[in-house]
Formats: sequence, structure tokens, C-alpha cells
Amino acid sequence: MKKTAGTSRNHSLFRQVYDYILNHIERGEWSVNDKLPSVRLLAEELKVHRLTVFKAYRQLTEDGKVYVKDKSGYYVSANNAVIEDGAIVSSYIQSSQLSDIQRIPVKYQFSQALIDPNLLPNLYLSDYVKKVFDMYPKVMGTYASVQGDDELRESLSQHFKEHHRLQLSSDELLITSGAQQAINLIAQMMLGTLDSVLIERPTYSVAMDIFRRQGARLIPVNISPDGYDLDEVEHLMRTYKPRMFYMNPTHHNPTGYTVPAWQRKLLVELAEHYQCLIVEDDPFRDIFFDEKPPLPLFAYDTEGWVIYISSFSKYIAPGLRICAVACRFPFMNQLIKAKSIADNGTPQLNQKIFLHYYSSPRLQQHLDKLRIALQIHKEIVEEELDRAGWEWTAPQGGLNLWVKLPGEISAEALYRKSIEQSISFVPGVICDPLGESKSWIRLSFSFANEALLREGMQRLAALSRTLEVK
Ligand SMILES: Cc1ncc(COP(=O)(O)O)c(C=O)c1O
Repeated sequence: MKKTAGTSRNHSLFRQVYDYILNHIERGEWSVNDKLPSVRLLAEELKVHRLTVFKAYRQLTEDGKVYVKDKSGYYVSANNAVIEDGAIVSSYIQSSQLSDIQRIPVKYQFSQALIDPNLLPNLYLSDYVKKVFDMYPKVMGTYASVQGDDELRESLSQHFKEHHRLQLSSDELLITSGAQQAINLIAQMMLGTLDSVLIERPTYSVAMDIFRRQGARLIPVNISPDGYDLDEVEHLMRTYKPRMFYMNPTHHNPTGYTVPAWQRKLLVELAEHYQCLIVEDDPFRDIFFDEKPPLPLFAYDTEGWVIYISSFSKYIAPGLRICAVACRFPFMNQLIKAKSIADNGTPQLNQKIFLHYYSSPRLQQHLDKLRIALQIHKEIVEEELDRAGWEWTAPQGGLNLWVKLPGEISAEALYRKSIEQSISFVPGVICDPLGESKSWIRLSFSFANEALLREGMQRLAALSRTLEVK
């Protein structure tokens, strides 16, 4: 970490050290009553002035996160333990993990941003399993190449060229086991302790978990139905010199918002100017209702400052774990290295099954039908939301609605009651890098069938009425 003279930079350094210590505590690496590293040791490790660490400890003490024992040092205080009663709520607050919520079996499943398996092409995929074994009898007998199957990368580079105007060679594609792995590899490649990352507010919570685990500092950028405030983005890039901006600008999770075309071009220019890598996560591009979304930011990038992640989990098969990452050299070389350490290549069988389905005419037929089915799902939820008087902005695609609860209702209180009634959704707080958005919820409309969606939404609205402040 570089030392700088400016006061605002010093202030931000203090906040970064503060967040670093707090993140370690929240992740359970330092637990209640553990002795924390001394000021001297931490200053040496983080390459900052001792005064900066001292100030961070003092603030953490004032905030009740840490306590001091005379002449002995700083210790983790009990305030960091379970905050809420009820194991589920406290555990997701502690670990910020979406999976804690999604693991709970419920009848009305609105927390999974996944598509009802009955709407996915499972039967067709099974046809290709047989075909793949006939065509490539040794498919299970060899390792895949680390970068991904040649045929698949060739086919995807053509597809991206024709459909999304991405000028790509197959060498500029890497196949990963899902977008989550791609984010993980990029984080490992790019981020060191206390490096800054711009991240949308709200955002995909697993990405936050990954960046936090790397020890990164998250800098929130608000996303609205009109996109970002570009002056704010520029100010943040100038002030914090982030290593990257992780974004999901098309049918965004959790809000469904789409960043307009005019901002995309300017964002790429900002990224070039401030040398901030844009990580464009784009799993919902093909799930649109009426109009096709604007081109990816990657299409505007001529200098190699955008990495494009295109997962096929959402609308083909989450179980195959196939995702393509487009990026230029030298980042590609580093990513391939990271991938070889992670798993030495995504399973070849999965890549071949995917390739034969993806390059068949069945893909287009499936997508046409799926878009209609999902639009019907969305409209069912919107009708019920309208009846209940809740607020949301209708998205043009994706799988989620970002909903503001009426009055003073707390999403956490509603969540606790809902789980008792076998209804699950995602409380907004876990999507918010600031841990706020307490009266917002994410409702996924893609997993439950139409009847359960209607019934579950009516039950949810009735539950929320019992919580309204009279
Ligand atoms: C924005 C975003 N990125 C990545 C993922 C994970 O995708 P994958 O299943 O390909 O790992 C999700 C899943 O919900 C997502 O919403």
C-alpha cells in the first residue's frame, strides 16, 4: 500500500484498516475475546503508519467491536456475536451468505434466482449425452484443456460476434465452471489486501463475499433504473484508485435495472482513463421480455479494460456449470494460470454436451418459449404487488424484482414470519454493501410455478399487513 500525503487519502486509509479488521472479525478469523495483532505488527503487515492502525483500533473500540485491556492490547468484543434472535437470521447477517437462505426447504421459493427446472431443456440435454459419448469415445479418459474446449471456444466466439458484436478470437475466451468461479479467479488475480473495488449498491451478494474474503475494500456505487451517476463513478475512481469495478449492468441482480447504452461507452472511457478494470458479469442478457438490451460494455472496449463474464447457468443448465470469460492479453494469461491452479479445466463432458445443445436450433426455440413463460411469471407477481400497494420498477428482463415494502415494515421481521409459513425471499440488507436497504426485498419470480407464485405472493402480502404500523 502506498503512503500519500493528502488528508482525504489518509482518512480513507484509516477506513480501510478499520474495515480490514472488522472483516476478519466478521468472517470469524478472529473470534470473541481473541487478542488482536499489536499496532506495530499490523502496521508492518499492512505497510501503513502505526498511527493509522491506532486510529482504526480506537474507532473500533468506540464502536464496541473491540475492547482494550490495560498494557495487554486489543481484544474482540462480544458485540460481534449473534445480533438477532433466531439462528437463520443471525447467520446470514454474520456471513452475508445467500446460500444460508436458499438452503432452507420451503414451499414458496422466491429466494432462488434460478429457473424452474421444468422450464429448462433437460430432456434435450440428455439426448446429447449419448451423442457426445458416440462422437468422442475418449471424452472421459482425458483431461480437458485448461483454457476450455477448442470447439466450444470457437463456436462461442462466433456466437458473441454475431449476436453481441464482440470482436473476439477463441484465444480470448476461457471456459470456467460457472460465473462464480470466474469472479473468484479474477479476484485472486487482481486483489490484494485493502485494494479497493467499486461495486454496485445493491449487488449480487456472493461477489461481495468473494471480494471481502480477499481482504478488499468495497466502495459502493448506486445503481438506479437510469443506470449510474457517472460523476459519482468518476469521483470514486479518482479518489480511491480502485483495481476494478464489478458490475452486472444488464437486468441486474437484484434490481433488474439495465444501464443505458450511452453510459456504457463512457464507462469504458473512464475505465481506460483511471486504469480500473471493469468486470462485466452478464448472466441475464438473453432473458429479456420485449426489447433486446444494449450491447455489452465489452463491445466498446478497444484497450482491454473490460473482462466479460457470460454464464449459461441461468437459462440452460445450472448443473453443467458452463461459463465463458472474454478478456484480452495479458489478463488472459494470468486467468489461465489461476484456472489451472483452481481445477485444471472445466469437465470436458459438460463442455461437449453444452456445445452440441448450444449450437443446435433448439436453443433459439427454447429461449423464445422461456421468455414468454418468464414474462407471465413476472406479471403474476406484479399483479399481486400492485394489489398490496408495494413499490418496484418493472424490469425489462432477468429473474428478480426489487421491492420496497410499504410503511415502516422491516424486511427482516417479514422474513422471520415468512419462513414460518414456508415462504422464502432475500432481505435487501444482504445485497447491500453498506448493510442497509432494510425495507427492501428481492423476489425471484422464476423458480416457483405459476400457481405457487400467485398463492405465495398473496400469503406474503397478508403477512406483511400484520406487521404494518397502525
Ligand atoms: C449476477 C450473478 N453473477 C453470477 C451468478 C452465478 O452464476 P453461476 O451459476 O454461473 O456461477 C449469479 C447467480 O445468481 C448472479 O446472479
